[in-house]
Amino acid sequence: MSVPLLAARGLTRIYASGQERVVGVREATLSFAAGELAVLAGPSGSGKTTLLNLLGLLDRPDAGRLELLGEDVSTLDDRGRARLRREKLGFVFQSHQLVPVLSAEENVALALWIRGLPEVDCRTRARAALASVGLSGMEGRRPDAMSGGQRQRVAVARAIVGEPALVLADEPTASLDSETAARLLDLFDALHAEKGIAFLFSSHDPRIVERVPRRIRLVDGLIVSDETPAGGAS
Ligand SMILES: Nc1ncnc2c1ncn2[C@@H]1O[C@H](COP(=O)(O)OP(=O)(O)OP(=O)(O)O)[C@@H](O)[C@H]1O
Ligand SMILES: [Mg+2]
Repeated sequence: MSVPLLAARGLTRIYASGQERVVGVREATLSFAAGELAVLAGPSGSGKTTLLNLLGLLDRPDAGRLELLGEDVSTLDDRGRARLRREKLGFVFQSHQLVPVLSAEENVALALWIRGLPEVDCRTRARAALASVGLSGMEGRRPDAMSGGQRQRVAVARAIVGEPALVLADEPTASLDSETAARLLDLFDALHAEKGIAFLFSSHDPRIVERVPRRIRLVDGLIVSDETPAGGAS
């Protein structure tokens, strides 16, 4: 049997703000296979970002266990977690977080520079990643000279350039109109099919959620359903 990409058991994150304790996520248990495509759905405040941050090793749980490719990440120190993040994961954030003074190509290449790869390799691979998201010819543009949908595709290119096993995307379509959002999802589908990258993203837009084969629904920090409709398995 193959090792799951991600295996979470009883992941719990409680935020303490002053005297108040707010449940971010309670006892989340889920397993995620290599090459899967799934969405975390649920209303605002239901815990989508909290769970993505835990699964992406950006935050630590208060309880529970998380394995990434069979490795128990709770025993890793910060450096070990950062290494796994760099080598196995890619991230797309809602506010894309591109560096404004760098070109599209440099923004993407940066994800490889920080791994210590030679600059010429970084740039070659960055151009290939931009081509795979349909941005050939835009390598030299700065983010402020691109549309919202183009910027989001630069962010996707940056997330996939290091050939991660899994890309985590928090509301990647939130600032996009329906048509651009649908095109971004087409792009995720294509990258998933062609490169075998697994995608897990969050969204509360039903038009987006309906398109994705596996839907994990959260309410008040609890996973209330985890469905792969018949015929919709990836
Ligand atoms: N840093 C924090 N400190 C205290 N409470 C927090 C913090 N971050 C999130 N929360 C609380 O945890 C719960 C889950 O928040 P989370 O951001 O995960 O929800 P979400 O589903 O991503 O919502 P949205 O759709 O609005 O992005 C909410 O009640 C929220 O108020
Ligand atoms: Mg959120």
